[in-house]
Amino acid sequence: MPKVNAKDMLLKATAENYAVGAFNVTNIIQMKAVIAAAVSKRSPLIIQTSVTPSKYLQPEVIAGVYSILAEQAPVPICLHLDHSDEVDYCKTCADAGYTNIMIDASKHDFEENIQQTLEVSRYCHDRGISVEGELGTVCGIEDQVVVAEDEAQLCDPDKAQEFALKSEIDLLAPAIGTAHGVYKTSNPVLDFDRLEKIAEIINGKEPRIPLVIHGGTGLSDDVVRRLVSLGGAKFNVSTELKHVLIDTTYDYIGEHRDQYNPGKLDVAVSAAITACIERWIDLLGSGDKA
Ligand code: 13P
Repeated sequence: MPKVNAKDMLLKATAENYAVGAFNVTNIIQMKAVIAAAVSKRSPLIIQTSVTPSKYLQPEVIAGVYSILAEQAPVPICLHLDHSDEVDYCKTCADAGYTNIMIDASKHDFEENIQQTLEVSRYCHDRGISVEGELGTVCGIEDQVVVAEDEAQLCDPDKAQEFALKSEIDLLAPAIGTAHGVYKTSNPVLDFDRLEKIAEIINGKEPRIPLVIHGGTGLSDDVVRRLVSLGGAKFNVSTELKHVLIDTTYDYIGEHRDQYNPGKLDVAVSAAITACIERWIDLLGSGDKA
């Protein structure tokens, strides 16, 4: 299918009350495995890269591989840059062929967050690329973005609409208590009412600016379903994929210590990643929505 940005895909998800999984990958094997899951479930898909792997592999390389795989696939696939806190790097990735860009200026004060986000929105919109902004700060560690628990701030619903309109974003990530990385408790405190209120203010009359849930790893299935039912339309999952990659590699090498065949290791990792993503697609309700 032709490459797509995230906007229309997520407006549809918002209207039909399901979410599209946005999965952070660090290499081509993972990218292929995630796409295989989306194809088998006939689900739309967002592939995302954090800034460090993007810089390491080079945005042109990632976007080049994405372009070939997305055009071959029978489902719509978007390539998203996750949590860039540098305006210039957002532009670099937009030029390289990413189709959705997240500028994370959430550590700045409200006005500066708007200004930086607006600069990225205008640059990207001229190129047909959609943009995600963040209001409030999601705690935990996501690549170069580190937010301590006592620094994290939840999104103010009364400011959400003003932020979204003035920054001209397409997608809003409101901080509602989810966290990047592994949760320290099996029952993290999330502010469901806050999400509901933000969804009502922004998308109550008609879907306008789809909402993004960060920190998917470790949430219970019930919590995920509730967040989706309250309006979460893009659901980010990163740490779980890293665990699947490393644990599968470790187990495979432990069981095949005398084998020197990287291709077989790739097959084992791919199968594990595909199974992980198929489970997420079922949970988010995006199967058969492509
Ligand atoms: P997790 O690493 O907790 O799954 O969070 C992913 C995320 O929100 C990426 O932006």
